[in-house]
This record gives sequence, structure tokens and C-alpha cells, in this order.
Amino acid sequence: MKGGFDHYMQKEIHEQPESIYQTMRGRVRMEPQVQEGSLDPYKQQRIKLGGLAEHLETIRSGRRIVFVGCGTSYHASLASRQTVEELVNLPVACELASDLLDRRCPIFRDDTCVFVSQSGETADTLAALEYAKSRGALCVGVTNTVGSAIARSTHCGVHINAGCEIGVASTKAYTSQIAAITMMALALSEDSISKREPRDAVIEGLAHLPDKIRQALALDGEMRELAAKLKGEQSLLVFGRGYNYATALEAALKVKEVALMHSEGILAGEMKHGPLALVDESMPILVVATRDGVHKKMVSVIEQLLARGATKHLLVVCNEGDEEVAGLCASHGCSLIRVPQVVDCLAPVVNIVPLQLLAYHLTVLRGFNVDQPRNLAKSVTVL
Ligand code: M6R
Repeated sequence: MKGGFDHYMQKEIHEQPESIYQTMRGRVRMEPQVQEGSLDPYKQQRIKLGGLAEHLETIRSGRRIVFVGCGTSYHASLASRQTVEELVNLPVACELASDLLDRRCPIFRDDTCVFVSQSGETADTLAALEYAKSRGALCVGVTNTVGSAIARSTHCGVHINAGCEIGVASTKAYTSQIAAITMMALALSEDSISKREPRDAVIEGLAHLPDKIRQALALDGEMRELAAKLKGEQSLLVFGRGYNYATALEAALKVKEVALMHSEGILAGEMKHGPLALVDESMPILVVATRDGVHKKMVSVIEQLLARGATKHLLVVCNEGDEEVAGLCASHGCSLIRVPQVVDCLAPVVNIVPLQLLAYHLTVLRGFNVDQPRNLAKSVTVL
């Protein structure tokens, strides 16, 4: 059942080139095809999401899009928020289901609420769905389980097709959720002439994603070595911003959930507003600094951490060929995790892969249960 792997979590991490491919299969036309008699090669559909087709116009003409989820599913919507904002040009909110319910958050009949859930059975997400329905919103499901309560109760949706996920720690569902929401944004912006160029870049990025994930998986041995260095530590701070704020949150969740080590994902822009006080020469820190619109700011974050002496365990996720970050880190003996570069909005998919591996190896080396972490269940079906 584990196909030669020791644990389901490990198997599911390594399945990601295939699971992400399955999420896109039959839904993305990778090459624009010039149609006979058509002067405009773009006048064709490149994204086909059958479950959403009839509702695209309603969503486009709505007031805003509200993503709702818990845990990793919430992180997947955070990772994709900027893509939806940029391509669809609508305000986008991301809500934790329990918090939305606690606040009785205002939801309107011209809102689109998107419920993101691997299992499709999470009690808080389901209760938030019933609440949004009672307010008259269009409810869309992004789930991995056909026939689940959320898949049945929503008006329409996208199945992520990642395949069965058994490990309590969600890994392949996370990357497939990001791909599915990205496809949703592409489908919603299909009519927009001004978005053609960015859309083409994202579609091109999707086409290469399975290979890029494969390259990131090749870091497995390096991640085991880093885990061996970190295994006796008490805490790990993870800094990211922009698209990779979600990567920081998700990496920290994996570390605390399975390796049972305290870990905190921190928006790098907030560093000076409190977290910097925790930084000294012994604090283990991971920084996600791949090349994107906030790269310069992340280089400055690394400089500031180094200036506070954070050198014992400074791990930096950067792109292959990023000599600026490499040079900065080499002079202080920091560890580099070099991942392939992809279009900005898909970087969270590639960047999380070595960090999932790091959490996995940390768990094994610390001697904890990988697939059934203490006190947790795969699916949280009670409020
Ligand atoms: O099935 P769901 O996606 O609705 O589950 C939501 C969370 O319970 C889940 O993502 C949880 O955070 C994971 N175990 C994290 O790895």
C-alpha cells in the first residue's frame, strides 16, 4: 500500500508530480491553437472546469470572492489569493472557517464563497458553508473527495483529483488545491484581453510544474541532513512574504503537526513588529527568499537576521543560480535549499516540497508517529 515508502506522508509527498498532473489533466490546454478561419488565436477556451462553467459569469459579476477553509486548506487559499486578485480583478478575502462563524462575518447574496477542503467533511467548513448558503451567496467547493458533504452541499465546484490522502498531514492535497484555485482564476479571466500575457505565463508555468516538483523532490537527501542538524532544537521560525507567506505558515504547520516541534510561520513584513526580539545566535530560522516581486525585501530580511547573529541554523530557500543570496549566505555559513524557479504565483507549489520533506525527516529522526500525529485526526468532523 505504501509502494516501497516507509510512511504514507512520505509516499504522498513523492506522488506530487503525478497528483498535480491529475489536477490539470483534461482541464488545461497548454498550447494556444490557431483555429481555422479565426483571426484571433486566443478566442478559444484554454481552461475547462466543467463544474464551474455555468457559473463563471455570476462569479465575475459578483461583489467579491471569499475563500473559507481550515489548516492547510486555508493556507492553500492564502497562497492563491494574489493570483485571483490579479487575474480576476475582484476583492478576495481568505477566512478561517471557525473565525468566520465566530464573527458571523457579513456575507452577501452577490458574494461567491469558495470552500476549500481536502476531506470535504470538516465540521467548521461545512457549518460555514451552511451559513453562507443561508445568506444567499453562491457556494463553490474545492475538494478532494467525490460525494463528500461539502461537494454535495455546494452549488458547484472543482474536484482536485489528487488521489486518496491517508497521512494526517496534508501534503499533495495542498499543492493540488493551489493548482485548482489557479485554474479557477484562469477560467474567470478567460475573457480579459489585458490579462492575456500573465495568463499565458501561468499556463506555461502549469505545464512545467510536474517537472519542477520532481527537481524539488531530488533535495530529499539534503533535507534529511538538515533535519539531522535541527532534530534536537526546540523551535523553528519561518519567514516568508507575498505568495510565500503561505509557504511559511504551511511549513511551520507541518513541523509542529508531525515533528512536534514548536514552529511559527511569520509574515516577514511583520518581523520588526515583535518577532525580531526572538532572534539570537542560537534560534533556528528558515527564510523563503525565492526570486519574485518581493525578493529584494527578503534579501534585506536575511541581512537583518545575520546582523542579529542568527547564523547557527539559518536555512534559506532560494532559487538555483541566485548568486546574491548564495553569496550572502556563504559568508556566514548558512544552509541553502536551492529550488527551481517558476512563475511567481506557482512558487508556493514548488517551495513547499523540500519543507514537507524537512518536516517528514525531522519527525522520523525525533522518533514520532508520522502518519498518526499525537491528538490529531485526518478529518475533524466535530465543531
Ligand atoms: O479536510 P480539510 O482540508 O478540510 O482539513 C482541514 C484541516 O484539518 C487540515 O488541513 C489540517 O490542518 C491538516 N492535517 C494539516 O496537515
